[in-house]
Amino acid sequence: MTQVKILGISGSHRKGATEFCVQEALRMAEEVPGVTTEFVSLRGKTIAHCNHCNRCIREKALCHIEDDLQEVLEKFLQADGYIIGTPVYQMSPTPLLQDFFSRVRPTFVVYPGVFINRVGGAIATGGTRHGGQEMTNLVINNFFRTYEILVTGGPGGNYSGACVWTKDQKEQGARDDEVGMTRVRGLGMRVAEAALVLKAGREALAREGITLQQEDAWQTVKQRVEIGDAPTE
Ligand SMILES: Cc1cc2nc3c(=O)[nH]c(=O)nc-3n(C[C@H](O)[C@H](O)[C@H](O)COP(=O)(O)O)c2cc1C
Repeated sequence: MTQVKILGISGSHRKGATEFCVQEALRMAEEVPGVTTEFVSLRGKTIAHCNHCNRCIREKALCHIEDDLQEVLEKFLQADGYIIGTPVYQMSPTPLLQDFFSRVRPTFVVYPGVFINRVGGAIATGGTRHGGQEMTNLVINNFFRTYEILVTGGPGGNYSGACVWTKDQKEQGARDDEVGMTRVRGLGMRVAEAALVLKAGREALAREGITLQQEDAWQTVKQRVEIGDAPTE
């Protein structure tokens, strides 16, 4: 039977609404047959931002900055699907989450194409009802797109992902937002289902001896790196 792993990441600095929401989405994901989950909180982790030294591009290596990035990236490389949640800070994800995003860049050259046909979904928790949750989810979804991770918002009505209104009341605030929590749970289930279908599809095609363009994509990116046309900007 096809097995998939869904990785949940919280970009909050504290044990609050976002951690709870991501874990709740993972709980629903686990209801899908063949799905296991893992939760990672960036809270308390030291993750520097990318300083654009381009050493990764020149040396085709993962980031040389030694901090807590490596342990998260290892899990990120191995998962089949992603649920990423963040509090809204100034209508955007937290700098902590953005720093993590920036440090994923070297995977372009070290593991080109590795994320193709994986799937991700976004959760934003904001203290205000219309505090920028949709825009925040857009940033997360654009991160997924940058790495060719397919995006789902969840069931109809979710649009950008799950938007939660917490009234700044941490977990209890999220729990009290019934609409938001319905979105969170739906998102968890959809990410899990999509990851399962994508992996089962690839396995079925492989059994039929069909090679996907995915393999070509890996080669193309490798060639781009060799002729100096790698994504360096
Ligand atoms: C620096 C800062 C900026 C914030 N900016 C916004 C904002 O733009 N919109 C909003 O709705 N809430 C904003 N908030 C409130 C948090 O997004 C909200 O309390 C969130 O649910 C916190 O999640 P957590 O409990 O996981 O930390 C901000 C909070 C902080 C600390």
